[in-house]
Amino acid sequence: MQRDLINFPLSPAVRVKLVSAGFQFAEELLEVKPSELSKEVGISKEEALETLQILRRDCLTNKPRYAGTAGSGKKCTALELLEQEHTQNSIITFCSALDNVLGGGVPLTKTTEICGVPGVGKTQLCMQLAVDVQIPDCFGGVEGEAVFIDTEGSFMVDRVADIAAACIQHLQRVAGTHMGEEYLKALEHFTLENILSHIYYFRCHDYTELLAQIYLLPEFISEHSKVRLVVVDGIAFPFRHDLDDLSLRIRLLNGLAQQMISLANNHRLAVILTNQMTTKIDKNQASLVPALGESWGHAATIRLIFHWDQKQRLATLYKSPSQKESTVQFQITPQGFRDVVVAASCSLQTEVSMNSRKRLRESEEEQDPKD
Ligand SMILES: Nc1ncnc2c1ncn2[C@@H]1O[C@H](COP(=O)(O)OP(=O)(O)O)[C@@H](O)[C@H]1O
Ligand SMILES: [Mg+2]
Repeated sequence: MQRDLINFPLSPAVRVKLVSAGFQFAEELLEVKPSELSKEVGISKEEALETLQILRRDCLTNKPRYAGTAGSGKKCTALELLEQEHTQNSIITFCSALDNVLGGGVPLTKTTEICGVPGVGKTQLCMQLAVDVQIPDCFGGVEGEAVFIDTEGSFMVDRVADIAAACIQHLQRVAGTHMGEEYLKALEHFTLENILSHIYYFRCHDYTELLAQIYLLPEFISEHSKVRLVVVDGIAFPFRHDLDDLSLRIRLLNGLAQQMISLANNHRLAVILTNQMTTKIDKNQASLVPALGESWGHAATIRLIFHWDQKQRLATLYKSPSQKESTVQFQITPQGFRDVVVAASCSLQTEVSMNSRKRLRESEEEQDPKD
């Protein structure tokens, strides 16, 4: 079925230019690159990107909202929703305190934003999750792959290799205690080489590259159906540095948030977005708040804020549809993102989740007491 451009929420000026250039249906534009569209139709690169975002999003979610035939969406009962929630897995962080606060880890099908000042550990958690998402099914993992979109150039492959090596070692110890054939077999494929080759890395230097990349993701993920995690490390950076037009910034960010929500839902994956903090002055009082303004605050389903209490790193669950607000401690060790363990007697913990799958927690043996 071809969808007429008239049925999409495009600005009248852009629609006129598209039609004057000979385009009538959305399908004619889905494969066009933003730069080509900008040249061919005589609109700015930003307008071209925004137009393609809208068309792509509405075509993918099958919702030509202005079509008069507006679909009412798939109906399902609350019981079905509850069952879906129970079978939806999470990606563990290797910090059991944070996993508990999140209800078992970073949930698939949802978007989670991590905000915090530089150096607090946002990228470290992203790299940890890119490894953890690959933990085999029999160990309670989701056995997936990861897409890592890096806008700040902070992804360090050596560091990922260290985190992965620590994770492999941990699973080997778990397998050793269980002595199960299934566990050992699963670990044959859980090698450093395999882990690194299942993290698909994209470096985006500005917001046009970022939006183009995100716009191409559904296609990439259709070809890599095991992807269960999409990280955008540094959502604010390109928008704060290259884009002065505030209303355009809000529109582009809203489009991006919508795209991420569809991606999480349609492909049953977790989306992680990291964000910087900015100073807000209110009644002569300065406070640190997440960047990108208040409307962006509604973009992600879950919002975590990482912060410091003197030398201690803390994570506060700030917004969640199902978990209560709370603050936990975490630390970054040479092995990765971990619990802060006070007593020296923490053994491997394995817990059975609601869908009877075991969840892994990190043993204290791996933690560096000096860190
Ligand atoms: N190998 C390591 N061992 C211990 N701590 C580390 C290691 N690598 C990085 N870190 C810690 O992580 C911090 C960087 O955190 P990062 O996630 O990059 O911050 P951001 O929140 O800006 O993304 C470093 O300052 C350091 O404290
Ligand atoms: Mg970072």
